[in-house]
Amino acid sequence: MTDKQTRNATDVIILGAGPAGLVLGNLLQNSGVDCVVLERAEQAYVQTRARAGFLAAHTVRILERHGLADGLRQRGQAHSVCEFRSADGRFRLDYGGLGRGERHTVYPQQLLVADLLSRFLTSGGRVDFGTEAVAVLDADTDRPSVTVRAADGRPGRWQARYVAGCDGRHGAARRSLPPDAVRRYHCDHGVTWLGLLAEAPPSLDAVCYAVHERGFAGHMARTTDITRYYLQCERGTPADAWSEERIWDELELRMRGSEYGPLNRGRIVQRSVVDLESDVLEPLRHGSLFLAGDAAGLVSPSAAKGANLAVLEAEILAGALVSALVHGDAAGLDAYSARCLAYLWRAQEFSHWMIRLLHGANGSPDGSSGSPSHDSTSNGGAGRGASLFHDSLRRSRIASLRTSRSHQDWFAEHYVGV
Ligand code: APR
Repeated sequence: MTDKQTRNATDVIILGAGPAGLVLGNLLQNSGVDCVVLERAEQAYVQTRARAGFLAAHTVRILERHGLADGLRQRGQAHSVCEFRSADGRFRLDYGGLGRGERHTVYPQQLLVADLLSRFLTSGGRVDFGTEAVAVLDADTDRPSVTVRAADGRPGRWQARYVAGCDGRHGAARRSLPPDAVRRYHCDHGVTWLGLLAEAPPSLDAVCYAVHERGFAGHMARTTDITRYYLQCERGTPADAWSEERIWDELELRMRGSEYGPLNRGRIVQRSVVDLESDVLEPLRHGSLFLAGDAAGLVSPSAAKGANLAVLEAEILAGALVSALVHGDAAGLDAYSARCLAYLWRAQEFSHWMIRLLHGANGSPDGSSGSPSHDSTSNGGAGRGASLFHDSLRRSRIASLRTSRSHQDWFAEHYVGV
């Protein structure tokens, strides 16, 4: 702990110990910039919380560049194939051999967070766990501060030159922005997923996207014994509404297990309901307060971009903060928002494209608001016609992905890239 820190003062206060906050903390620490991470949750929770797990090649390069990739090099698994299943059959895209020839590394996010945390703490970094940031004050000055509340309710206050809001979409950074300082672009895709973690080996050696009239189903390997599944469900479905048997039967049906092989079943160890939403804040800065990761923009999980953007933004912000604090050059901070927004909107665009590919119109499982239909005309009225139109577009998109090399290259580049 530095002298400044004993006085609750530092150069950079980082809110949140997720991928964004911890990459930023490590990079600042490596450059000798004084910082503190304030994290609401306890340490054990932070490093065991299962979230995403797909790291883009570019993310791995960033982590390697800063000596943060030992764990994922040892335990991560290269992944470069995805499979699509629909009423028109199935096909595989070996995206590692397309586009720029890049792969994903599958590495559960909690392991990455544990690696980043351990590196930060062993190199002398300070994380105040169980410390909730309440508000960022005076962000429009060069002496911002953060009021905090400890787990036992004790209030406190930190002061710094800069504050990095890496505390997610419901964090204190977003809450502290004056309404006229930042604009929020928001989209509710009208689609809901039941996210499931199963204690079961993956059922195939690829990510699988199953498009079905009953709704989308997805399969994503995590480790040799744990698999993530997604099931599209009606908006408002409680997480515990479906029995395990019903979940497996539905997954099996939508993934067409009878045609392509049964799923490896196991205990469902975690479930959550996710309404697919996206948002972007513009600009990603208010005075001395900078936003990164989910706090900057929320990308729906359909294309697994969230953690990758968090790492990228953290690296850009770290470089800009070091330039400003060590070399007195604030140009990087001035350019931060525009630079990151370009990446963020590209990720939003691809993730939106994926959402439209995987779901029926209006987000309901079959593209209408009722039960599945096999009509092939627009006789059911304008809404019905539009949903059939959307469904046919979807089939055509999938057919293009199956047959057109240029579509496949485009997909590969955006799927693995950030
Ligand atoms: N004070 C302190 N800490 C807070 C506060 C607060 N008021 N609010 C939230 N936090 C903490 C959370 O407990 C969490 O540990 O901020 C952290 C934010 O971490 P993430 O949610 O992992 O966000 P980020 O680092 O931006 O990572 C981005 O990875 O898996 C994806 O969906 C995830 O897209 C997200 C991503």
